[in-house]
Amino acid sequence: MIFTVAIDGPAAAGKGTIGRAVAARFGFAHLDTGLLYRAVAAMGGDPVAAARRLSAADLARDDLRSLAAGQAASRVAVIPEVRAALVAFQRRFARAEGGAVLDGRDIGTVICPEAEVKLYVTASAEVRAQRRWLEVGGDAAAVLAEVMERDARDMGRADAPLRAAADAVILDTSDLSIETAVAQAMAAVEKALPQR
Ligand code: DC
Repeated sequence: MIFTVAIDGPAAAGKGTIGRAVAARFGFAHLDTGLLYRAVAAMGGDPVAAARRLSAADLARDDLRSLAAGQAASRVAVIPEVRAALVAFQRRFARAEGGAVLDGRDIGTVICPEAEVKLYVTASAEVRAQRRWLEVGGDAAAVLAEVMERDARDMGRADAPLRAAADAVILDTSDLSIETAVAQAMAAVEKALPQR
């Protein structure tokens, strides 16, 4: 079965948690596409050359999770040649036999507009910054500023900006428990699955 769940949304909205839960429940493969951009930025040197030679081993680096790595990823992600170099891998993953969940910024709009399920997971900047701060600590105001700066760059870029696909189910997790958000995502997938 070819079946793609595209999950887009801003940083710290809950995409990863929802994506992992959906993949585990339905036995689909899961790709956190932010890791591709994080790895490209972390490799250093020319980001276009890095994107073209990216391999699975680069995604296993242990320095990709920090706030700084996220900011650096957001900066290389505005470069059209970087994005172009990463398209084929993501499309293959999305349409591989067995079902796939991809989370990112442009999955439902650019990478896989034919996805069977599109979710746009969002939350207020304040709620997302609070979640990030609980993970990383430090200065809360600086974490909020970082979240807002990344939103502005990811939504404002010319190539594949972050936005909800017209046919996406919007999940605003500002006031939802993670259990409720996951349950709503599961229900959207159940509805779209071929009858078994
Ligand atoms: O989801 P994340 O925080 O790991 O993403 C890091 C950055 O990578 C994000 O700020 C923008 C970029 N990105 C992107 O442009 N397109 C994607 N599909 C995923 C991430």
